[in-house]
Amino acid sequence: MEDFEIRKLSDALGAEIVGLDVTAPVDADTAAALRAAWREHIVLLFRAPGLTQDQQLRFAGAFGEIGRRPRPRGERPEDAATVDDAVMLISNIRVDGKPIGSLPDGEMYFHHDTIFKEVPNLGTMLYAIEVPSRGGNTRFANHYLAWDALPDRIRERVKGRTAHHVYDYVVYASREGKGARAGTVDGCTHPVSITHPGTGRRALYVDRLMTMRIDGLPEDESDAILDEMFDIAEREAFVYEHVWTPGDLLVWDNLCSSHARTDFPADERRLLRRCQIAGEARPAG
Ligand code: SIN
Repeated sequence: MEDFEIRKLSDALGAEIVGLDVTAPVDADTAAALRAAWREHIVLLFRAPGLTQDQQLRFAGAFGEIGRRPRPRGERPEDAATVDDAVMLISNIRVDGKPIGSLPDGEMYFHHDTIFKEVPNLGTMLYAIEVPSRGGNTRFANHYLAWDALPDRIRERVKGRTAHHVYDYVVYASREGKGARAGTVDGCTHPVSITHPGTGRRALYVDRLMTMRIDGLPEDESDAILDEMFDIAEREAFVYEHVWTPGDLLVWDNLCSSHARTDFPADERRLLRRCQIAGEARPAG
């Protein structure tokens, strides 16, 4: 078992793991200790300058099975010869005018990765290679705290209900494109709040970017409740904002947190390498 230190990043969530070499194989006891820290702190930060793609994938294996990419191989922007099938580049860098990765530009609203899938990924691991001089920060919201903070009148109204989530591979930046989605749309329904399989705790499971409606409620009421839920989840007291340095590696729990990205200068390069930790079952209410 490797020794490491856990340093909290904020009161809301997040911890830095200090003193662990993530480029080396991790033994079973260390992996179990890391997963326990992950369940408790939701977002873990490691400083790992020079981490290779293979080392990242091996280390991700300490948190669970590596998740598959939702977008089919032939439709991905990455260079298949150099980028592993399980890896997504997140980048605004363009070659011949085409982005070399996904989610290239600007701000992104809070969202859970792959909530639009029947079995969403349990976690996401993101490694910073190039970052802009300002902005492009990733903000994480603690959805256990969001659920706990909901007024009783809302909890009663959504009890036993599901919400519908979509992802449009073209219009991804906001919920505004609701009526005019143009790309390949994936969608799925999940309970409005879920019980986390690893902790048994209840978490709010909706987000501003991808949740379209609460099923069975009139549209006006559904919109009003969702907006209130988003505002609560995104309260400053429930959020940790990560300012990236190249070499930072974050792994976050995608069932009990959502994340957003702040805007950054369009003429500065941003390149991160992402892989995912697979979910095991449909989220349960
Ligand atoms: C993502 O949603 O996985 C991207 C986050 C980021 O670019 O900071």
